[in-house]
Amino acid sequence: MKPTVEICGITLSSCVINGAGPQDESLDNLRRLGESASGAITVKSATKEPRGGNPEPRWHDAEPASLNAMGLPNLGYAEYAKVIPELKEAYGKPVIGSVSGFSVEDNLAMIKAYDQAGADIIEVNVACPNTETEVVGYDFEQFTKVLPAYRRSTAKPLAVKLPPYTTNGQFDKAVAAIKIAGIDMVVSINTIGQTTEVDVETGQTVLAATNGFGGMSGEAVMPIALGNVRHLAARLGPDFPIIGIGGVTSGKDAFKHLLCGAHAVGVATEYMKHGPEVFGRISG
Ligand code: DHB
Repeated sequence: MKPTVEICGITLSSCVINGAGPQDESLDNLRRLGESASGAITVKSATKEPRGGNPEPRWHDAEPASLNAMGLPNLGYAEYAKVIPELKEAYGKPVIGSVSGFSVEDNLAMIKAYDQAGADIIEVNVACPNTETEVVGYDFEQFTKVLPAYRRSTAKPLAVKLPPYTTNGQFDKAVAAIKIAGIDMVVSINTIGQTTEVDVETGQTVLAATNGFGGMSGEAVMPIALGNVRHLAARLGPDFPIIGIGGVTSGKDAFKHLLCGAHAVGVATEYMKHGPEVFGRISG
């Protein structure tokens, strides 16, 4: 695989990077990512205030799927903004700041703070399924309205992390909004929301939070992720940067994302399960 890749003028030292999600919320996690073979350090999707996240159990491995209802545990954007210059200096690789605020105002404030802190790419996550707020990536009226405001708030490369779509109409609407707003890059896919698993011994759902529902990730989502990347690439064109994410456990999986039109590949669940060595193994 091509070892380095340029996206929006930013050089990733490897086209395999961590996706915002697991093991990227503490400063230790971020330093470990800096030391790893990940081509960038993607920071956990932040909220304005620090959050402990949802009650446990909030992650469940049901191979080949994983379910999570983490609920955005994170240190709050201000802590991450503080550490971004140090991470860039220490590891010499790009830092991707991800925001997942509970309002447009929260996201605008966080985007501006990450811009000033020197984040190389800023990702707006409109797809987290595990909080009380609606998934804006599925509400196309809202999605179309908010993207231009986010775009105007920074001159940095601005990415949108999308939920998985399953109809042509959804892809058409999402891409129209992305083009109108002048978004630079997309990250696809986030987890598949509102999934569940039941323990037959207890009759209870395996996740405690959000009424037993959570987002599904892992190997099982690969065909959905590849379909999304391919649909988006067809509509956005071959030069539009796409980070493909979903189901990647091997170099072959990452290559499939590239073949479907991704420019770089995110890894989250496999990293959660096996730690930072996965980046070298997958890009190897
Ligand atoms: C969480 C889950 C997601 O799928 C995501 O994109 C961001 C955050 C979470 O619950 O923490």
